[in-house]
Parts: sequence; C-alpha cells; structure tokens
Amino acid sequence: MAEIVIVPSAAAAGELVAEEIVKLITARPDAVLGLATGSTPLPVYEALRPRLAGVDVSRVRGFALDEYVGIDPHHPESYRSVITKEVVEPLGLDPERIHTPNGALETISHAGEDYERAIADAGGIDLQILGIGTSGHIGFNEPGSSFASRTRVKTLIEQTRQDNARFFDSVDEVPMHCITQGLGTILEARHLFLLAFGEGKAAAVAGAVEGPVTSSLPGSAIQLHPHTTVVVDEAAASQLAHADYYRYAFANKPAWQGL
Ligand code: GLP
Repeated sequence: MAEIVIVPSAAAAGELVAEEIVKLITARPDAVLGLATGSTPLPVYEALRPRLAGVDVSRVRGFALDEYVGIDPHHPESYRSVITKEVVEPLGLDPERIHTPNGALETISHAGEDYERAIADAGGIDLQILGIGTSGHIGFNEPGSSFASRTRVKTLIEQTRQDNARFFDSVDEVPMHCITQGLGTILEARHLFLLAFGEGKAAAVAGAVEGPVTSSLPGSAIQLHPHTTVVVDEAAASQLAHADYYRYAFANKPAWQGL
C-alpha cells in the first residue's frame, strides 16, 4: 500500500516533498517532474525555491497533469500560465523543457497522443506530484475514468467547475472540457506523491487510501501503484481508519528506507 505521512501543516508537507525533489535533481540533473496545479502543490513549489538556489536546474524537465480545452494559453488561469508563474519562473526552470497538454481546439484530436509521445520520449516521469479533487479526481480524471486511460479530453463535472470557479470571475467562465493525463499515464510515473490538506479533502483521501479500488473514486488508483507517498495534514487525515498505524509506522521507519 501507499505510505501515509501525516504532517502538522501544509508547509511541513511542502518541505518534505521539496527535499525529495532536491535529492532527485541532485542525483539526476535531467530528472522528469510531474507537475500539478491547484492550491495543494503550492507549498512544495515555495519550499523548493530556497532549496534549489545553487542547484543546476537547467536540464530539469517537467510535464503538467492537465489543461483546460479551448482556453487561451495566455489566459492567467490556463494551466500553462499557472505552471509558468508558480513553477517555471520562481524556480528558474527552462520553459522549453516544461510541457503542458495542448488544449488548442485546432489540434485537440491528436493532442493526447502527442503528449503521451512526449512523455515517453523523455523516458517517463520520475516523480509525480498529485492533488486530489473533492470528487476524488486526480489530474482531471473525473469519477468513471478508466484505470487504463491515457491523456485525453474529459468533461468536467459540475462540482469541479464550482470548485475551480474561485480562479475565474464566475463559474460560467470555467471551461467545460479539459485534457488530462490518464490514470494509466499517472500510474506509470516512478514515484507518486499525493498531497491533501484540510477537512474538505478528508473523504476523498480516505476513499483513495482505504476504500475499494474503484473508478468511481479515481484517486483510489494509487493503491495499484508500487511506490506512492501520501502526505496529508491532520484535517485531511481525519477520516482515515488506520491513522494511528500510519503514524506509528512512519515514526518507526528504518532510517535506510527513505521515502
Ligand atoms: C484541480 C486540478 C487537480 C487538482 C485538484 C485539486 O481541478 N485539475 O490537478 O489536484 O483539482 O485542486 P486544489 O489543490 O486546488 O484543491
């Protein structure tokens, strides 16, 4: 099963994951990162900034999980813009090496295949950061997504559009379609880090970690992955039945094991 790490705060989670990313980039300067958008990964990017000062990041590569379809890439809420503002610029990454799925309507019929090819050409993703939606989605894989799915166009459920309306002027401006790495794509990344903070994520986290493996809760796909680390604060962990065991196991983790 996944390793569950319960931390006191989102900032502590950010530090923990940032340390792992720094170790990875130090060992492998052309590491391939799987980048997530949304509020959840922000503490990771913030913690990375001081830690990457003095580290050569010129060869680091990255792939975002998803993008809205039909949004102008220069729109401030396109995931291309968000990744540029939150990750590429503050961390000094090479924008040419950081990819987002192409949501342009003209090429959308083959954008999924193109993205899959680019990930394969890069040798796959070393470390994938994931948030989880209140519907249990990872990336934009809404309930019902196949565990074998690859990067493709999906229709957002109303709950997700409502959740993301805070980034737009109104819910009507949130695009209805997205292009997202599939669950099959995500499961091929070598190490998954699923992060969640706050009470609002507690049910999705409990379902993903301890519920049945079901496409009705796409985050439960992590149970099929051989190397997943779930990093949650106390509130997001509050519905986990075995939280005491996870704390005990982490506190007594052999030093040689690493995350
Ligand atoms: C968004 C993104 C996901 C993200 C999730 C949670 O819609 N497509 O990649 O993990 O929903 O967002 P947040 O971290 O803001 O709660």
